[in-house]
Amino acid sequence: MERTRRLRQTAALRSMVRENHIRVEELIYPLFVIDGKDIAEPVLSMPGICQYSVDRMKEELDRVVLAGIPAILIFGIPDHKDEVGSGAYDENGIVQRAIRQIKQDYPDLIVIADVCLCEYTSHGHCGLIKDGIILNDETLPLLCAAAVSYARAGADIVAPSDMMDKRVGAIREALDKEGFTYTPVMAYSAKFASGYYGPFRDAAHSAPGFGDRKTYQMDPANGREAMREVEEDIAEGADMIIAKPAMAYLDIIKEIRRKFNIPIVAYNVSGEYAMVKAAAEKGWIDEKKIVMENLIGMKRAGADMIITYHALEVAEWLKKGEV
Ligand code: PBG
Ligand code: ZN
Repeated sequence: MERTRRLRQTAALRSMVRENHIRVEELIYPLFVIDGKDIAEPVLSMPGICQYSVDRMKEELDRVVLAGIPAILIFGIPDHKDEVGSGAYDENGIVQRAIRQIKQDYPDLIVIADVCLCEYTSHGHCGLIKDGIILNDETLPLLCAAAVSYARAGADIVAPSDMMDKRVGAIREALDKEGFTYTPVMAYSAKFASGYYGPFRDAAHSAPGFGDRKTYQMDPANGREAMREVEEDIAEGADMIIAKPAMAYLDIIKEIRRKFNIPIVAYNVSGEYAMVKAAAEKGWIDEKKIVMENLIGMKRAGADMIITYHALEVAEWLKKGEV
């Protein structure tokens, strides 16, 4: 007689038949770097996460490297913002300086540079604006310039998060033209217009000054359309695909896994992190259990890698054998 409980009788047996695992090797940790000196400023809506100035990134990066986390995803918070987001593609911009420093101090750490304009534009949108409209094709050269300047600074991977049409192909071509043929593009392909980005926008000072991002980020109701985005980005040369947010969109991850043969990255975003932290602070949930359960759900859905603000603590728990 079939009894599925037979294989659940001991920890050793359960471990042998476990289908999915969280490994530190597949975690990516976001890092916020801010202009200025001697800054390690906590982000209030993201307990445990700070903005670091270039001279103090080391505190956090030492922990990352010691924990065995292979990659960081870097976001810049510039002093100066303007209409055209020039800080994003300034050779001496905050991210460019940070990358040069990181690659000098930690040559083996994989540095992924988020490519977008919203942290650098005075209006907070991800593209150029004319008469209240977010321009698509006019934005592409600026994204290309940003991607190339990050690669030149030493970024190992670029990750366009703007959701303009055709940006992956444009960035691929620009990288190739500048000799960065082997710099992969990790594309935010299935990126939804989500309330879950709220804490990030506090952290990165990137909330739109007017309107919202619904004319370029996807409608949360649309699963089939996400597959069109992924197909398009793969055709344009994407090497890896990000699905974002993760928890309310596990069906999207599963469907990408089913339809395409490409590495998938789940982005466990700021709002997902904040909710867990808030409930854990109140003592309403068991944080370790909930975090691991959320992450294993992403793996089970089909993610190969996970971008998560929990990466440092998860790496610690794994190392100590606590999870
Ligand atoms: C920039 C960007 C955002 C996030 C990653 N890159 C914010 C947004 O699109 O508004 C969100 C990440 C998070 O919430 O953790 N385009
Ligand atoms: Zn943006």
